[in-house]
Order: sequence, then structure tokens, then C-alpha cells
Amino acid sequence: MSDEDITIESRLAEQDYFEPPEEFVEQANAADPAIYDRFDEFPGGFEEYAEMLDWDSEWDTVLDDSNPPFYEWFVGGELNASHNCVDRHLDERGDETALLWEGEDGETRDITYDDLHEKVNETAAALRSVGVEEDDVVTIHLPMVPALPITMLACARIGAPHSVVFAGFSANALAERVGSAESDHVVTIDGYYRRGEFLDHIEKADEAMAETDRDPEVLAWTRHDEPEVDVSDDYTMVADLLDDHRGETVEPVSRDAEDPLFLMYTSGTTGQPKGCQHRTGGYLAYVTGTSKYVEDIKPEDTYWCPADIGWITGHSYIVYGPLSLGTTTVMYEGAPDHPTKSRIWEIAEAYDVDIFHTSPTAVRQFMKWGEEHVEGHDFDFRHMTTVGEPIQPEAWLWYYKHIGDESAVIVDTWWQTETGGHLITNLPALHDMKPGSAGHPAPGIQPAIYDDNGESIPAESGEAGNLVIERPWPGMLQTVYGNDERFISEYWERFSDTDSDDSSDWVYEAGDGAVQAEDGYYRVLGRLDDVMNVAGHRLGTMELESAVAEVDDVAEAAVAAREDAEKGEVPDVYVTVREGVEENEEVRDRIVGAIEQEIGKFARPNEVIFVDDLPKTRSGKIMRRLLENISNGDELGNTTTLRDPSVPEEIRDQVQTD
Ligand code: WT7
Repeated sequence: MSDEDITIESRLAEQDYFEPPEEFVEQANAADPAIYDRFDEFPGGFEEYAEMLDWDSEWDTVLDDSNPPFYEWFVGGELNASHNCVDRHLDERGDETALLWEGEDGETRDITYDDLHEKVNETAAALRSVGVEEDDVVTIHLPMVPALPITMLACARIGAPHSVVFAGFSANALAERVGSAESDHVVTIDGYYRRGEFLDHIEKADEAMAETDRDPEVLAWTRHDEPEVDVSDDYTMVADLLDDHRGETVEPVSRDAEDPLFLMYTSGTTGQPKGCQHRTGGYLAYVTGTSKYVEDIKPEDTYWCPADIGWITGHSYIVYGPLSLGTTTVMYEGAPDHPTKSRIWEIAEAYDVDIFHTSPTAVRQFMKWGEEHVEGHDFDFRHMTTVGEPIQPEAWLWYYKHIGDESAVIVDTWWQTETGGHLITNLPALHDMKPGSAGHPAPGIQPAIYDDNGESIPAESGEAGNLVIERPWPGMLQTVYGNDERFISEYWERFSDTDSDDSSDWVYEAGDGAVQAEDGYYRVLGRLDDVMNVAGHRLGTMELESAVAEVDDVAEAAVAAREDAEKGEVPDVYVTVREGVEENEEVRDRIVGAIEQEIGKFARPNEVIFVDDLPKTRSGKIMRRLLENISNGDELGNTTTLRDPSVPEEIRDQVQTD
């Protein structure tokens, strides 16, 4: 152990809480504890967030909860998200930077609100010219280039919900999402840079188009002026469309508060990802309000969240929240360690970033790389966030010390794709920081912890259970796209009285385990369902298993989460092969290949383990929990319900000798 570790550990042993610095408190957007009382006026408190927006017509009802869990927020109100994120800032901040983009190759772009207005309008005109109409879902498969937020805002301008598919997803995953969203338009790009290489991205669109039985029009942006790879003649070049619509403006369409703004597909407990549908008014109000109070964003700040816009974090806290507040939001195209492990800190210094928002996985990676890559870079964060996974106190303290220079506040924000924005997080000026704990409920949010029988565990008992939310909030998903039953079964059925029309009988199940300590701080422990969290990315074990099942020689597969010091969790795949098939590298490569093909390279398994049999109950259900115990070297636990109790021990012996 190094001296460094000793000081970190001893410090954690003697200090549970860290106070926000006085200078932070003095300037914070949320510095008056009365904010909690205001939001306890339920649901009226949430009007404070809606009032941060420009509305074309005011709402007449804050919340219609007459048909739970299909809640409606700011009913009767009309607004446009692109107007709120762009147009309304032009008078005062037209010359100020909206997007600061840095390409991995060093190219930079400083896009002012005036520039953004021009580009969003031209792109909206371009989309209309190819027949995109209000309520058509546009699927966007773009990496971290300015075209991504521009296309999202152009869709919002004309009232076409977008469905952004993370660029790392494979062609098959893209095709599946195009099909599920019934999309007639797909927006992509020729390629982009990753670790110094120009990746051909259009080939994923080509393959996806061959795969899907729909026939969408493909619109292709280019990373440089001219395409760098072959682009099919069937595709429409966005650059040509923009040439035809130079200088055009498109009136923002007034959307009902309840009209969908976007879909975001996420993994669940079945093989099919769910299209979480987010509304325009409630979502935009919620992410604007939490960007202001939790992220403490001011228009004059430079704010940087190095996540990918292809996940919910990027939607809410790179694009919609920050731009709605008129601030400067930074985007970086490439890998954090290219060309050196100081890249992130060079960018932070060059752009004088004030607020930095990242994941525990990234923090653990920075920590592993060592503080020598941070030292000597002159940046000064006022505020830092973590999101996506629990953060270990050791990693928290390293972040606090080496990145925050012990003078920045840190908020650990718990939320989900479904929740739209932060639900459990401290307001940084109003609470002391407690490493490892997300902390207090956000204003107006009512979490609780239930046991498996649906009984509420007493508050502040320190006892672990299921994290639930007992009251609706404006950022919540509206439904699962095209599948109201799945919306109910995934999130509500377990802890609600589904026959009741009374909203207080409906409880949202998060799928996470949590404890609330005596001091009121919540600590989120991780998923309780068949969903894994790999480097802050959600992966369904069933999705991985169905990908592996596509491989001819595989008889059965089960996926278990192995704890990993860097990525939090990684998938181990346990496989039985068909009679007569040899267990060899070639089969293993095909299994890994199938996962890359069906989901994407980011989902690659940690290990593929050939076994003779999988542990099953008498009714034939695979017991993943036992495999998880084996992967993690834990005690096996109860095996009496197994059809053949010797199976897990055989697997364990095999894993240990491998
Ligand atoms: C799952 C949601 C929300 C944006 C990123 C992930 C885990 C999220 C925390 C946190 C502990 C966390 C949960 C949650 N999670 N934030 N601060 N502490 N766990 O979005 O892909 O929808 O995943 O991420 O398990 O359910 P997502």
C-alpha cells in the first residue's frame, strides 16, 4: 500500500462528512433550505421548474393523476424544447458559446447560440424537406459530434420525437430500435475518430438497412467536408439538403406538454430493450430545474459532462438541461486517453471548465492512471458530479482531492433512464457530502425502501430493501413506447394496487437495492433484477443470453455479473455446447462475435466459460445467482432447490482450476 492510500483510508476512517466550501455556498443557485418546503407542496411545488421555461400557453393543471400510472404533467400547456434551448437565449446571449466541441484529432468548434439557431433551423428545414412530420420518430445514430445535438434540437423544433441510439451499438441493435420505433428516417454519419483511428460508421447503417424489414430513408452527415468512406447512393447527404435550405428559418412547433420529446431505449429484464418515452413539458422542466439546483449551472459557466449523448445522462445533462439554462456545454469526440492520459485535464484547462460531471468508472480509471496525469494542469472545478453507479469512498476521496483540489463540491446523483433526471442527490450548498452515499431525495421526490413483501421498511433504519418512489414527478417516463402493459409490469405491478384509481396506491419500482442510514442519507447498492451495470452502462443479462443463443453450437447460456475493480461489473458467460461440439477457441470467438454483432463491442464478455451443465431449479429455471457467487468467489449458499445440487460445485471446481 502506498502512503497515499494510507492517508486516504485514515481520513475516511475519521471523517464521514465533508462540508461544502463557504465560497460555493455563497454563490449557489439553491442556498436556501426553504426550497424543500416549497416542493413539499405537492404537486404545486414542481411549478417552480416549469416556470423556468418559456411556454406558448400556460398549463391549467399541474398534475392529472386520475389514471395512474399514466400521469400527465402541466396539462394544457404548450411549448417547444428547441425554442427553450436556443431561441430564447438569442437576445441576451446570441454571441455567447452554446457548444464547445473538440474533435479527437484536435479540431475545435465554438458554436454560439446564434450559430446554433442557424444550424438547428437549417437542419429542421432539411428534415421537413425529406418528409419528416410532427410525431414521426427519427432514429439518430450519431457519435459525439455537433451534428448530434443539432439534429436532436431540429427534431424537437418540428415536433418529431427523436430516438438516439448510442453510436457504439451494433447494426443489429440499430435495426431492432428502428423497427420497434417504426422509424422512417435514420440519421447517421460517414465516420468519426476513436483512439486515433477514423471509424467507418456508415457500414453499421448499411448492415442495419439490410437487416430491417422497414425501408427508412437514411440521412448521412459527414465528419469532414467530404465523405471519407463510401456512402451508398441510396442515402441522402445532409450537406446537400443544408445547401438547399441555407438561411431558412422554421417556426418552432407548439407542442402539448404531454407530447413526446424523445424515446430512449434501455435494457430491461427481457431480451427486448424498452423504449422509454419522455414527455416535452415535464421532462424539460425537470432537467432544467435540476440542472440549475443540483448542477448549479449559471449561464456564464462552462460546464462539461464527458458522458455520451447517446445515453440519458447526455440527453438530460449535456443537451437539454444546460442549453435550456443558456450555458456553455462542452463536447469531446474521442477517448479520454488519446493521445495521452492527460487529455481530459488539457481540455478542462483549455476551456476553463467550472462544472464537471462524470461516472465512478471514469474516476476509478483516472485513479488507476495516477495523479501524475492530472498534476500540472491548471483547471479549477467549482462543482463535480458522479452518476451511474455507486462510488466507493476511496474513489470519492481521490476525486475530491486530486480533481477537486479539496475545494469543489461533489454530488453523487442517483437516477435512471426512466426517471429523466436526478431523484436522489444532495443539493450541494445545503448538505454535507458523504462519500459513498447519494444522499437526500431531490426536492419534491418521495423515495422509500420496501421489503420483498411490499411492506415499507422504517425510515432511517439502515436496513436494505427495494428502492421505490411513492409519488410521481415531472421527469418520469410516460410509458414504454407502444407497450403500456410492459410499462405497468416492469415498473408498477410489484408494489402497487393495480386495481386502484387512487394515485397513492401506485408505487414506482426502481429495480435497485438501497439503505437509508440514521442520518437520512440514502445509499444505493445496485440492481436487484437481471440488469447489470457495466462501466455505468446498463446491460440486460437476457439480452446477452439471447445473443449467445444465436450461436449454432451453443445449447444453453447464462450470464452472471462479476465484480470488477475498474468497471464495477463485467459479464461472465457460462455456456453448454451441443452434443459432439468441441469446446474451443473458435466457438468462444463466435460467442464473443455474436455479442458484438447483436449489441455492440462495449458489451464484450469478460470470460466465456464452458460447462457441462447449468444450475437449474426443479422447474428448469437457471439460477444465475449461483453463477454470480461462483464468478465472485463467494459462498454458494442454498442449493437445495436445485434439480442437481452437484452442478454448481462442479462448475466452481472447474472455474478455480481453469
Ligand atoms: C441505473 C440506471 C442515470 C444515468 C446513468 C445510468 C445505477 C445510477 C447511481 C448512483 C448508485 C446508480 C442504478 C440505476 N445508478 N446512478 N448515483 N449510485 N447507482 O442510467 O442506464 O438508466 O442506469 O444505474 O442501478 O438503476 P441507466
